[in-house]
Parts: sequence; structure tokens; C-alpha cells
Amino acid sequence: MSDVDQYMPPVDLDAPMRGIVCGTVTQSRHPDYAEGAIVSGLGTWADYQIGTPQTVQPLSDTGPFAVVDAFSTFAIVGPTAYFGLLDIGKPQAGETVVVSAAAGAVGSIVGQIAKIKGCRVVGIAGTAEKCAWIRDELGFDAAINYRTEDVSSAIAAACPAGIDVYFDNVGGAILDACLPLMNLNGRIAFCGLISQINAAEPVPGPYNYPMILMKRLRVEGFIILDFMHRYPEAIAALGQWMAEGKIQVRTEIVDGLENALQTVKKLYTGANTGKLMIRVKDV
Ligand SMILES: NC(=O)c1ccc[n+]([C@@H]2O[C@H](COP(=O)([O-])OP(=O)(O)OC[C@H]3O[C@@H](n4cnc5c(N)ncnc54)[C@H](OP(=O)(O)O)[C@@H]3O)[C@@H](O)[C@H]2O)c1
Repeated sequence: MSDVDQYMPPVDLDAPMRGIVCGTVTQSRHPDYAEGAIVSGLGTWADYQIGTPQTVQPLSDTGPFAVVDAFSTFAIVGPTAYFGLLDIGKPQAGETVVVSAAAGAVGSIVGQIAKIKGCRVVGIAGTAEKCAWIRDELGFDAAINYRTEDVSSAIAAACPAGIDVYFDNVGGAILDACLPLMNLNGRIAFCGLISQINAAEPVPGPYNYPMILMKRLRVEGFIILDFMHRYPEAIAALGQWMAEGKIQVRTEIVDGLENALQTVKKLYTGANTGKLMIRVKDV
């Protein structure tokens, strides 16, 4: 949204809010978009909108998955977890992977992929319930509640062999806590900085920046839009793991477009678990 140097133009004041959307074609002037077809892509928070082949694509066969699960997992968060962890983080079996916002949409999938790849996985989340979910149901090796525990000592205790890959969804204090614990030649997949995304003033830090040099770390930011051409690879792998029961996804759906503004705030207070969506209408 913000008018800063970034990967998309800012959302203009008074313009419809931008979002990743899924819906049914009600009228079409394009031969590839039959009326009644389900499409998804980049749109706006609206009851109806005009899409083009550049903005929305037919939702491919969702196989055994309900449309809502396929959309929630395959549209953005699953591929973000997949490419961010595997292409940027490059985890090897036996290595230790730490992920923040670990009970969120992206983070919960990151941890499960890392387990599939044979890693020790430590998740950081903001409530006891979220920690219990990722540890007891998703199979993370350890979970840290950053709101109630001393994050640095808790991560050190949960990562006796240090951190090889940190999948960073939050930036800020948790990034700072992870930096000194990184192993030589460790990798940081820099996915998001939700802890500082609403800051009105520039945020100082990371204070442990020198560790990038001392530990010869590779810190790489990525934007999922750059991996669009490889989506079929991610969707095939994620779909197979979901069908095999190796990846569980959780969705939280709030009905009513009129609730969108209050609902999006849940992301910043941690009131959501898994992929948060607004249902404007059933598709
Ligand atoms: N690079 C890309 O292409 C790409 C694509 C999609 C998403 N992302 C980024 O990935 C991250 C996760 O996105 P998501 O859609 O999966 O959201 P999400 O994790 O489902 O929801 C956000 C979570 O962030 C945590 N959080 C909020 N404020 C925090 C803070 N100050 N410190 C620590 N944790 C905080 C909350 O969980 P707790 O209760 O645990 O605090 C909240 O539930 C975001 O940073 C997002 O911008 C990046």
C-alpha cells in the first residue's frame, strides 16, 4: 500500500484495496474465460470486478481439494513457503531450520516442508495454542512463544547445533535474536517484516548485522511474483504432500466484505491462525 520504493505501485488514496482474489466469471468477453469458470489472481476488495488475462487466470483443476483450500494454499502462501525455503534457504537433511510467524499461513507450511526434507524445525509464534498446534499436530521439533519466553535463550536451547536456515517472516527483534545463533555459511530467507510493516518511523537495526560478515551468511530477500513461471512445480509438490497427509493447512474465513478492514488487522495482532480470508460470496 505504502508510497515507498517497492515491488508494486502504491494503492492510491480512495482507490479500491488490492488483494489476491478468487471468484466466478459472471460475464465474459474472452474465449478463454467461460461464464461460470472459477478464476483467481490479483484483484480488489469488491463484490464484482473486471479482470483481464494479465490479472486473473482460470483456477486449474484443484484435484481432490476444495476450491477454498486450493486457492488459500496454491495462490500465494504455499509457493512462497516452497520457493523461499527450498530455493533461498536451501536446507539440507539434518540441518536446523527456524521459522518465525510459524503458525501463520506461510510459516506453518515452511516448517512442514522442512520436516519433509529431514531438518530439525523450530517455530516461533505468539500464543501457547499456536505453539501447541505446530509442535503437537504439525510435527515441529520445538515451538517458542516469543511473547512469554526470552527469545534468545529459548532459541539457543531449542537449537543446540545452531541455526542453518532462518526463514524470516517478521524482521525486528526475532531476526536480531537469530543472527548470533546462525552457523557458519547459514542462510536467511528474507520473506517478510511484519513486525515493522506498520512503523511510521524508520526502524533501527538489526543490531546484530555484523554476524552476517562474521558467520559468512547469505541473506536473500525474495518476492513470490518472481517465481510465477515455476508455480506448477510448487503446486504439484504441495498438492502431493497434502494428499499424502504430510502437509496440513489451516484456513480462517470471515464472512462479509464489510468485515475486511477489521479482519486484516488480525494479521498484525496475531489473531489469525493459518490463511486468513474474507468470503464475499460462495464460489
Ligand atoms: N516475500 C513474499 O513474496 C511474500 C509472500 C507472502 C507473504 N509474505 C510475508 O510472509 C509473512 C507471513 O505472511 P502470511 O500471509 O503467512 O501471514 P500470517 O503469518 O498468516 O499472519 C501474520 C502473523 O504474523 C505474526 N506477527 C504479527 N505481528 C508480529 C510481530 N510484531 N512480531 C512477530 N510476529 C508477528 C502473527 O502471528 P503471531 O501470533 O505468531 O505473532 C500473525 O498471525 C508476512 O511478513 C508477509 O508479508 C511474503
